[in-house]
Amino acid sequence: MSHTPLRFVRLVVLFFAAVLAVCPLDSSIEQRIDSLLARMTLDEKIGQMSQSTSMATLTESIKAEIRQGRWSSFLNAGGPADRAEAQRIARSESRLGIPLLFGRDVLHGYRTIFPIPLGQAASWDPELIEQAARTAAVEASTEGIRWSFAPMVDIARDPRWGRIAESPGEDPYLASVVGAAVVRGFQRRSLSDPQSIAACAKHYAGYGAVEAGREYNSAWIPEVLLRDVYLPPFRAMLAAGAVSVMAAFNTINGVPATGNEFLLRRILREEWGFDGTVVSDYTAIPEMEAHGYAASAGDAAREALGAGIDIEMVSTTYHDHLKELIESRRVPMQWVDDAVRNVLRLKFRLGLFDQPIPVSRQAVITADARGLAQRLTMESVVLLKNENHLLPLAPSIRSVAIIGPLADSPVDQMGSWAMDGRAEDVVTPLAALRQTLGNARALYAPGLKNSRATDRNGFAVALDAARKADVVLLFLGEEQILSGEARSRAFINLPGAQEDLVSEVGKARKPMVAIIQAGRPLTFQKVTAQARAVLYAWHPGTMGGPAIADLLFGRAVPSGKLPVTFPRTIGQVPIYYARLNTGRPASPAELGIPMGNPANPEGYTSKYIDVDLTPEYPFGYGLSYNDFAYSQLRLSAQTLMEDGTLSVSADLTNRGKYGGAEVVQLYVHCVTASVAQPVRVLKGLRRVQLQPGETKTVTFVLTAADLAYHNQQMQLVAEPGPYQVWIAPDSARGLQGEFTLK
Ligand code: GLC
Repeated sequence: MSHTPLRFVRLVVLFFAAVLAVCPLDSSIEQRIDSLLARMTLDEKIGQMSQSTSMATLTESIKAEIRQGRWSSFLNAGGPADRAEAQRIARSESRLGIPLLFGRDVLHGYRTIFPIPLGQAASWDPELIEQAARTAAVEASTEGIRWSFAPMVDIARDPRWGRIAESPGEDPYLASVVGAAVVRGFQRRSLSDPQSIAACAKHYAGYGAVEAGREYNSAWIPEVLLRDVYLPPFRAMLAAGAVSVMAAFNTINGVPATGNEFLLRRILREEWGFDGTVVSDYTAIPEMEAHGYAASAGDAAREALGAGIDIEMVSTTYHDHLKELIESRRVPMQWVDDAVRNVLRLKFRLGLFDQPIPVSRQAVITADARGLAQRLTMESVVLLKNENHLLPLAPSIRSVAIIGPLADSPVDQMGSWAMDGRAEDVVTPLAALRQTLGNARALYAPGLKNSRATDRNGFAVALDAARKADVVLLFLGEEQILSGEARSRAFINLPGAQEDLVSEVGKARKPMVAIIQAGRPLTFQKVTAQARAVLYAWHPGTMGGPAIADLLFGRAVPSGKLPVTFPRTIGQVPIYYARLNTGRPASPAELGIPMGNPANPEGYTSKYIDVDLTPEYPFGYGLSYNDFAYSQLRLSAQTLMEDGTLSVSADLTNRGKYGGAEVVQLYVHCVTASVAQPVRVLKGLRRVQLQPGETKTVTFVLTAADLAYHNQQMQLVAEPGPYQVWIAPDSARGLQGEFTLK
């Protein structure tokens, strides 16, 4: 088979056109940068390359430093009043009046907290995600924040890693779609709109591949995998207009991302033409010494600036060493000037030089924001099990027992990176259910005081509540502090005595529904075995309660689909759908191997002898209260020409009795390639709304470019030959067709 690269040049040209279309170099801004740069002292230039987190409050010494132009930007600086006053000082009392830029981790909401990013990805709804990001931008900019260190688009395939919570999951296509929606929401139509905030694609790159899911660990990623899986979401962020990138903490193949010229110069600047701003992660520059990559802090500063870090976050190696490095000619002034240009360009694009100095205002959580949060949360919840249609519950139900440590825990419900959310704004499931049923019909017994608790003293009361109720609602999962940065877990079961609580409450022999709030896929088979229904709500945010209540009582119908694979056991990890077939794939007859003590080891195929090789729940999986039937797969042709298109259609029928949405997925497999390709790769998604009995035709259009992957020469190619295609409800099923790429 010939592996000559197809349309490689055209793909690259298309991409550059896209980047420049959304982020053109504005000559007036460039002229203003030139004239300002010419007037700056070296100290002032280094000041623009430095971000501080020292402004918890606006002290006199900080004011003096602002007047000196020592800081370009502040992370986590005080409140809106301090930020407004600091900006006034920078603009009117510093020598050149260069404005400050306030940054914040606005990951999934500011005052209104939306589901964690992994949960938002489960909605597969870019429109709603964009609206949520726009709401976050309005709230954050109201309080003087104009730069968010989001979206995080690290592909994550290891639930041991705590930051999977912040990620868009395991798939680059879905990550690109949801991440781009966040960028559009943050940056709105124009970055100079005072209510826009600059997006920051992070953590560049490969942070989600940390070995063994251990936080800050090494990442070893072959270039083909880097280019086909870990980099595409970043490229999509830039194509969506993201104006900044944050370098990751980890090494990639032994070189820290913070000093990685291949990533930061060769790919980001030269291949992709990025003209935005690169910021280090928190003290990541001096950490290159601990990595064993820099011999000193000064050496680290030179490596970072040489690779292309424009702004140093929190640490001060630029302040401490750049002057001496320049005087000793170990660093050319050109590197400093290039970095300062990239920083000033961001500030000019944000309109900070031209807008009036912002006054101090408090963000408020509006009814619209609450409504939007409730809708996005409802769409993010994934129905994993619903035996005999237990759900939705009949409104006439006499009473429910509300049991578990996460039924009434506002802080946990908001999840990680929710520092501007307020517990008093949160509506918990308990509050929402009491509103729906009235207190008398909502019998509450937490059973455990938090998700890690092992004290069983609350079990008896919980069992008693279950005995008095018609249905038991179990609110289980992970506390907020078990998720996010530096929260890797070697076990991904329900913490504490939660499983024992379920077994104890099960003695009441009432129908049970488990609602799990967590920041990662967990393993919970014992709960699933005892519960008639299971909803996965991630950390659902401010309006988690009303969203869950609406789903439980059928005022809304679940439509979420998993953005990440759920393993049967931690021993299967890493496990993801877009795997290679191997030379000895297990046969269907070898599925179903029970989990636990190996029964009768046999066969020489790719599998385990003590657990089924398939996941507990596959990527893209999610049930509805309806039954959606897929039929009539049809292709517009059996052949896709190199410069042609191929339509793939199927009919979708709602055989249920509720109106509801189904996320239809398009997968492709290249049967034979110069680099073995995954058994399936997601290439399209469509949310389809259907009334009971309604049928709609869903059509996707494929081009050769959609099929492209990197060959051994690192060229983006779509090689001729046979391909398989599915229109599917998830990555394990679907209607299959074949075509040939000519
Ligand atoms: C943290 C995180 C990064 C965040 C930054 C500022 O360590 O790695 O995602 O944006 O510091 O809070």
